[in-house]
Amino acid sequence: MRRGRGRMRPMRKLVIASGNAGKLREIQTILGPLGCEVLTQAALGIAEAEEPHFTFIENALAKARHVAQIAGLPALADDSGVCAVALGGEPGVHSARYAGNSASREERDARNNDKLVTALAACTDHRAYYYCAMVLVRHAADPQPLIGEGYWWGEIRAEARGRNGFGYDPHFFLPELGKTAAELDPEQKNRLSHRGRALRQLVEKLRDFP
Ligand code: IMP
Repeated sequence: MRRGRGRMRPMRKLVIASGNAGKLREIQTILGPLGCEVLTQAALGIAEAEEPHFTFIENALAKARHVAQIAGLPALADDSGVCAVALGGEPGVHSARYAGNSASREERDARNNDKLVTALAACTDHRAYYYCAMVLVRHAADPQPLIGEGYWWGEIRAEARGRNGFGYDPHFFLPELGKTAAELDPEQKNRLSHRGRALRQLVEKLRDFP
């Protein structure tokens, strides 16, 4: 990928360990200009890993190792979620399945959003942040995974607005822009978002990667 002050050899192929189309679009846009071939785990027929851990970083690492093991290639994974201050950080690592696991991704998103809006209805503090842990392993047993982290602060609004993005974006309101994350165009979201920040931090660290 990027050559810099370190001795890193360019990575020619990389698998993104995610089956979430929304995330894949965002990650591929940022990695595109780096000049390595980006594959997805679905294209390689690799099933999604379990996410059994209590922390985002452990889950991201588990996903990356799972894909690197099967693909025999470097793998990049993120684990992310929305954390509401008044709910003590919930849904947090449970964001994807906050309202259960039984439906399609679109139905799950709709139920998750309803549950979050309902949980916050009685609260005066609607502040929330997205968090993303982004992990890159060169191989499944990599003893030095690269980790990037990103936060994105906003507030949860009951009214859904916008058609871009995915997940909680229509309810994630950015007071300084007067828009929800789903009203941003993809470039703007990538510039500001937890995932964009985490990935750029990770890419920066690649310079020193042996
Ligand atoms: P996981 O990282 O696969 O466990 O899923 C993270 C979940 O957090 C997603 O399914 C969404 O519900 C939520 N999430 C993470 N990032 C975003 C985002 O950028 N916009 C909207 N929802 C997000």
